[in-house]
Amino acid sequence: MTAELASTPSGLPEMPETSTEARKQHAEISDRIRSFNEAYYVNDEPLVPDAEYDALFNRLIELETHYPTLKKNSPTQEVGAAPADGFAKVKHARPMLSLGNAFSREDIVDFLARIRRFLNLTAHSPVEVVGEPKIDGLSLSLRYENRKLVTAATRGDGSEGEDVTANVAHIGDIPKTLPDDAPDVVEIRGEVYMARSAFQKLNETQAETGGKTFANPRNAAAGSLRQLDPTISAKRPLRFFAYSFGELSESLAQTQWDFLQKVEGWGFVTNPLTRLLHDADDIMAFYDQLGAQRPDLDYDIDGIVYKVNDFELQLRLGFVSRSPRWAIAHKFPAEKARTRLNAIDIQVGRTGALTPVARLEPVTVGGVVVSNATLHNRDEIERLDVRVGDMVVIQRAGDVIPQVVEVIKDERPEGTQGYQFPDTCPKCGSHAMREEGEAVTRCTGGLICPAQAVERLKHFVSRTAFDIDGLGAKNVETFFEMGWLKSPGDIFRLETDHGDAIRKLEGWGEKSATKLFDGINERRTIGLDKFIYALGIRQIGQATAKLLARHYGSVTEWRNAMIAANEADSDALRELINIDQIGPGVAKDLIEFMAEDHNREVLDDLQDVLTIADVEAPNVTDSPVSGKTVVFTGKLELFSRNEAKVKAESLGAKVAGSVSAKTDFLVAGPGAGSKLKKAEELGVTVLDEQGWLDLIATE
Ligand code: IVH
Repeated sequence: MTAELASTPSGLPEMPETSTEARKQHAEISDRIRSFNEAYYVNDEPLVPDAEYDALFNRLIELETHYPTLKKNSPTQEVGAAPADGFAKVKHARPMLSLGNAFSREDIVDFLARIRRFLNLTAHSPVEVVGEPKIDGLSLSLRYENRKLVTAATRGDGSEGEDVTANVAHIGDIPKTLPDDAPDVVEIRGEVYMARSAFQKLNETQAETGGKTFANPRNAAAGSLRQLDPTISAKRPLRFFAYSFGELSESLAQTQWDFLQKVEGWGFVTNPLTRLLHDADDIMAFYDQLGAQRPDLDYDIDGIVYKVNDFELQLRLGFVSRSPRWAIAHKFPAEKARTRLNAIDIQVGRTGALTPVARLEPVTVGGVVVSNATLHNRDEIERLDVRVGDMVVIQRAGDVIPQVVEVIKDERPEGTQGYQFPDTCPKCGSHAMREEGEAVTRCTGGLICPAQAVERLKHFVSRTAFDIDGLGAKNVETFFEMGWLKSPGDIFRLETDHGDAIRKLEGWGEKSATKLFDGINERRTIGLDKFIYALGIRQIGQATAKLLARHYGSVTEWRNAMIAANEADSDALRELINIDQIGPGVAKDLIEFMAEDHNREVLDDLQDVLTIADVEAPNVTDSPVSGKTVVFTGKLELFSRNEAKVKAESLGAKVAGSVSAKTDFLVAGPGAGSKLKKAEELGVTVLDEQGWLDLIATE
């Protein structure tokens, strides 16, 4: 799944010439960035390489420099993504921010010059910085009150994270108490990570026991820390480097360097490669030295963080929106290695996408053994002219699946042949087709294609969907091959229909079978959003599933609405497209899914074996806007559109994207145009921003 998305062309669109085009481009890139953020921060499943993310993010900043009004409601003003469901939320006493990036010496020189300019220092006055390896893990904030650890929280969206206190109990690098000389309130921040060696071992055990394997150490660390069951976390070898702080009831030191020394004395682990640096030459020498050491370290680093050493100067320098002026992340290029391409296999995904996978002579790329890499799609194979037998360069960019980036043509062995991309599905033999304008070639076999069926089942049980403990990809495949698992409903009949046979399978026994059946039984009640997402309907990711669940409230309402929307010009269709952020393309996929007899049978079956929990309308029946439909339009000045939407929904209102007879309120900021006109024609109540605030303020 990730491979399919990772192949989106990274080419940036032309810089727009008019403000309308700029607005449009900004909105499109913002949407993509938000979905990347959600994938990265909430699901631990990065969709694009860092470089592509950074390029898009920088384009947003560029657009906002030309058109500052675009800043409002932009991802550049937000950090990460909102915390996931399932954990209690923790509000950070001080926000957990992010860092700007540097890629070259020039960027570093600029960074130092900016600092000097801001502090009104001469061009050559010394500015001491601390250089710390940038650990590729997840940041964590540890709060100690009266010298006792009281909460451990992930970053979340920067202002609110997830409470993972129970899950850090077994991390030896995290002291549970502080010595007597520590102040009453101390928040220590740092990075949770998994060593490369531990990651390798964990994956081996996971594979042997049919559990889920992880793409890289960062994902393994994230997946382990964010386990709802702390006993699983406890078994995962997590580590922690301390590097920063949040709230403090008393200052701990005057410099970053002394701060690190101090907390080390308290039992925290700080990174031993940290250095004190004095100028750009020093910085570049450290960068080269650490870059050379990087492949041999037992943990992933993706750059170096430079921080102005003196806290007083840090305070004066302050922040620019989401990142400090006094620190920057100097990124390393993706790690690369050469190896031989032994074969090209085609994988078939749950939507039928044919993804070519390079089978490689195993090679270590920055400490992780890689034997498979993605080749994305047909065009990519043609572009590279990659052939079986070639020496290739592969790249592992921190978070994405390793990819083949170059073919060493000079070393091409004799007799190699250009790769013929198949015209038929290698799993079911159906015709494989590429739709116009699409990069992917798809198997047209649909229901008869076993590969698609297995992948759909794997998606159904995956961590972001039903998250069934003990039912990893490998077990799904085994049960599918045995003929015990054909459709999702079969999962919930495994125990009654095949329990005895499973207990007798090689490598299985009473204990593992019981664990599996317990895992399945725990999921017999599921929220509507997770249910919709688990169905694997094309284009319906977690965010869209949530929107649908919130809008329709119950599975019956949702099903009926999707069937009714199959009628052109129906109210149901208008209502669907009218949900903010659902466009005609997504609507079409939903309607087509529900129009299939087979899919409705799967739903009937699942509804028999499951309890699908309604989305509870927020407990706001007395709110003046509860149950009402609101549209926001025009240039909003008192609040961002996102804030308005979240607030309205929390009060029980539905937020729509366009005005119809069903609209109750149109909130119009300055410059409102066609929507305002339509609302007036339809007699919809029109409010200005203040009017809206007044309305929702009435208790
Ligand atoms: S300082 C306001 N120091 O990088 C500054 N961050 O891109 C806060 N990271 O969210 C961060 N090693 O997860 C800092 N030595 C280090 C770091 C580090 C890794 C991560 C951290 C942060 C991200 C910022």
